[in-house]
Amino acid sequence: MSEAGFAIQSYHEVAPIYEKLDALLSQPILPIKREAMEKYISYFDNQCKQSKALSAKSINVIPGGVQHNLAFNYPFPLVFTKAEGAFLNDIDGNRYIDFLQAGGPTVLGSNYPVVKEKVIELLHDCGPSTGLFHEYEYKIANKICELFPSVDLFRMLGSGTEAVMAAIRVARLATRKKKIIKVGGAYHGWSDQMVYGMRIPGTGRFEAHGIPRSCTRHTQEVKPNSLSSLERKLRMNVLRGGTAAVILEPIGPESGTRPVDYEYNRSVRELCNKYGALLIFDEVVSAFRIGLSGAQGYFGVEPDLTVFGKVVAGGYPAAGGLGGKQDLMEYLAAGIQGGKKRAMVGGTMAANPLSAAAGYYTICEIEKNNACEKAGRAGDRLTHGLQMLIDKYQLPYVAYNQGSICHLETSGVMFIKINWLKIMKVLKEIKARKHMMEEMGAAYMAEGIVTLAGSRMYTSMADTDEVIDDALERFERVFKNIR
Ligand SMILES: Cc1ncc(COP(=O)(O)O)c(C=O)c1O
Repeated sequence: MSEAGFAIQSYHEVAPIYEKLDALLSQPILPIKREAMEKYISYFDNQCKQSKALSAKSINVIPGGVQHNLAFNYPFPLVFTKAEGAFLNDIDGNRYIDFLQAGGPTVLGSNYPVVKEKVIELLHDCGPSTGLFHEYEYKIANKICELFPSVDLFRMLGSGTEAVMAAIRVARLATRKKKIIKVGGAYHGWSDQMVYGMRIPGTGRFEAHGIPRSCTRHTQEVKPNSLSSLERKLRMNVLRGGTAAVILEPIGPESGTRPVDYEYNRSVRELCNKYGALLIFDEVVSAFRIGLSGAQGYFGVEPDLTVFGKVVAGGYPAAGGLGGKQDLMEYLAAGIQGGKKRAMVGGTMAANPLSAAAGYYTICEIEKNNACEKAGRAGDRLTHGLQMLIDKYQLPYVAYNQGSICHLETSGVMFIKINWLKIMKVLKEIKARKHMMEEMGAAYMAEGIVTLAGSRMYTSMADTDEVIDDALERFERVFKNIR
């Protein structure tokens, strides 16, 4: 399938990707040569002295030394002072190609001037928030309702995590059922009920430290890209009071790290209809990145509820929202408008004028500039180039993309299969493969490329052919140094 306006020009075949990932996992890790790695580490010591000094101080006042999960921490976090288009500058004056793009929100590229000017104008007029209704709240809601046929009403919230919580609450209230099915390995924020089966499928409560068992009692996980696993769970739940909702990322868990067949979403829609469960699409990453009508527009499948985040505030703070059909979304107004029980949500900073204006102009600029498609083409060029390098150096690495979301699996750590009977061995392997991923990320960084955790890259409209080709030369310098 090839669609104008969407980031994905031709949808990937899923089976060959999983075959390559299985092959990657079946062999020992192939990391960077030790001498080369020492040189990369010396880059950080010699050319990032101010970052090193500041990160050493931060460890005393910030847990772990950084506030953000995506800040790359190995060998220590760099301090960034400038972000513009496709580039970042660190405090020591080094320049990088930015494939983190704030973790996804900046499809236009960082600090896009038109959006920045509108935000500054707004700040001059009324500051970032008043706690009262502002025209931009209407404008962004109206824009989203126009772009997403499945959305009649839109509630803006402070984050994707909050929006997922709201979606689940509405689903439970509307269906009067409790069970929530998610896909193993998927991240849907860090609310109590969603810290379940994170990163690696089958891990259940492995990371649910500090969360009482009762909070995840009604959360279940199914195998990625498996309709039989989902139907089995839906069928079993009929005997346990039923499924309130199935929540998934339409491009596959972890921003498509585990890709899904093209027909998967449509089939899940049918299963949800069959078993009376609501379908929630978590489009925190994909809305306004895969296309202006989200991944749901690309796949042609309508969910009952859509979770928004990231691009919905264009890289500015307080990025979250929930959309859906009127009968469901009215649970968020009930209590004010009466007649129904209210799904309680709130937030002092939800839909503040700053986030609403930033999101509104970001979406308008994406539309005006056909940014999803441009960013997607950059992603295709990057992934194709990486594949050529993998072939040239005969590496077992795996590169694939969903438009502007690019994956480069070198250690395969997320694909390790959990075996509870041999858990110590599994944990040892996770540790080794995770460390290799950190080293790869550090090597890319030392070559002037910022990635997400050394395995994912978001491209933006600012990534011209020249930027991508320059990045590929830098990736090649790393690949030349593989053992
Ligand atoms: C698919 C998905 N859902 C939810 C979230 C949580 O969003 P937030 O970080 O805004 O709370 C994320 C964050 O990365 C995400 O990728």
